[in-house]
This record gives sequence, structure tokens and C-alpha cells, in this order.
Amino acid sequence: MAKGAALITGASSGIGAELARLCAGDGYAVILVARRADRLAELAENLAREYGVPARGIAADLADAAARAALREQTRGDTVEILINNAGFGLHGAYTETDWEDEARLIEVNMTALAHLTRLFAKDMLRRGSGRILNVGSTAAFVPGPFMAMYYASKAFVVSFSLAVANELQGTGVSVTVLCPGPTRTEFFTAAGIADSNLFQGPTMTAAAVAREGYAAMMAGKPEVIAGARNRWMILLTRLAPRKMLAGIARRLNSSTQSVK
Ligand SMILES: NC(=O)c1ccc[n+]([C@@H]2O[C@H](COP(=O)([O-])OP(=O)(O)OC[C@H]3O[C@@H](n4cnc5c(N)ncnc54)[C@H](OP(=O)(O)O)[C@@H]3O)[C@@H](O)[C@H]2O)c1
Repeated sequence: MAKGAALITGASSGIGAELARLCAGDGYAVILVARRADRLAELAENLAREYGVPARGIAADLADAAARAALREQTRGDTVEILINNAGFGLHGAYTETDWEDEARLIEVNMTALAHLTRLFAKDMLRRGSGRILNVGSTAAFVPGPFMAMYYASKAFVVSFSLAVANELQGTGVSVTVLCPGPTRTEFFTAAGIADSNLFQGPTMTAAAVAREGYAAMMAGKPEVIAGARNRWMILLTRLAPRKMLAGIARRLNSSTQSVK
């Protein structure tokens, strides 16, 4: 393949699956990574058939450092031109009451894996003088998030980290873009146990629309994109508001529609 390969983490559903579709549609071979091997195999088969590109799934738990290193080895024969760090999940509950094992796994998947894979693949891209990295953050990055404290903090990390590395790599031919979606209709809310939260009752975007904005920004080499005009306005307003007030608003949004907190 003249265009090389795109490696997409969290490609078994939601935004990641849509980003994989865009990469395949553009002629990239796709390497789909997540834990659910059956979903990856099905998507790989569909993308190969629809777009005529090589497509394969690699089942890996990104919370495991050894699995991440193995992923690098399993793709040595590929020219990974695009790395999309999209895998991530949310965890709901008062920080002092959630299970530490779950919090630690969130740190590992949302932050450590993203930073580790960026490092592993950016080095090869730098040697070649070309490559694109897309890291999936969130509009949660811009506010403190009571009852999802670690998730919001993890996304603040993703944005700060991505913008800093993007700056370091200026002029090298390798770009880093951070995509910040707002509420998006995927499996995220059920996985995080917040399908009945106030947040999900408001306006949402489709995974396909979010992926299109992220893909376009990545291909244009932009450092940051907030998906959706409404979300862009919201984030602009958060820059003017005191953070204590923002924490109060996020607390209400993260609460169940049934509870008054
Ligand atoms: N939906 C939203 O409202 C929203 C808003 C802002 C940002 N985001 C971010 O967007 C990204 C994609 O989420 P989504 O909305 O598309 O949700 P999703 O449908 O739940 O997708 C999450 C993906 O991450 C993968 N994943 C989770 N834990 C993993 C692990 N330990 N190892 C490997 N893969 C793992 C899942 O695959 P397996 O379960 O098969 O492993 C799945 O493919 C996440 O980073 C999320 O934080 C979502």
C-alpha cells in the first residue's frame, strides 16, 4: 500500500470504529486495536471488502504495558503513517468510594497507554520524517468533573500532553492533533454507568460526525479541534468562568436525572 497503515485504538465501537472507516476510505491499510476480538474481526472484514484495503484486528488490553510493547512488535512490518489513540473509558462515582483497581486501569488506558504508544510510534515517524497522530481528549478536559474526577483529569492530561508534543514536533513532518468531543452517542455512557446522567439528556453528536471533524483536523495538521460548533462555544465560555463554578455545573451534569445533588 502506497499510503501506509493507520493504527486505531478503541476501534471496536463508537468514535474509533468511525475513524477506522475514514482511514480505510482514504486508502490506508487499517490495524484495529481493542479487547473485543470478534468486533475487530467483523469490522476488519467489512472495511477490507468495502474499501479494498488490508485490514486486521489485534486484540490487546491497553492497560497492560507488555501488550503495548507487543503491539509495536506485531506492527514492525507495517509503515504506520497514522496513529489514533482513541481507546478510553469513564468511571462514575465519588472518588473516595470507587474501586482503586478501576481508577488505576483508567489511568493506564486513558493516559499511560496514549503516552506510551505516542512515544513508540512517533520515533519511527520521526525517522521517516512523516506521520500523523490523533489523540482523543474530551471537552471534559476543560473543567473539573465531580463524580468522574479521574476521567475529567485524564482528559486534561491528554490535551496538555498532546499540545506540548505537537509543539515539540513542529517542522519535523510529524503532527499531533488532539480531538475533543462533547457528549457523543456511543457505548461510552453505558460502559461508564452514566446512561441516565443529566449530561446525556442534553444535545449529543453522532460518532460519525465527531470522527469526521477529528480526521479532517488531523490531516490538516491542526494541533487541536473541539468537535461541534455548540461545544466550541461552550468551551470558549468556560475560559471566562471561575473553576469552582464550573465544578458545580459538572457535578449537576454528572448526576443521575433521578438524584438532586
Ligand atoms: N462518547 C462520548 O460522549 C465521549 C465524549 C468525549 C470523549 N470521548 C472519548 O472518545 C473515545 C472513544 O470513546 P467512545 O465514545 O467511542 O466510547 P466506546 O464506544 O465505549 O469506545 C471505547 C473504545 O475503547 C476501547 N477500550 C476500552 N478499554 C480498553 C482497553 N483496556 N484496552 C483496549 N481498548 C479499550 C473499547 O474496546 P473494548 O471494550 O473492545 O476493549 C472501545 O473500542 C474515548 O477516549 C472517550 O473517552 C467520548
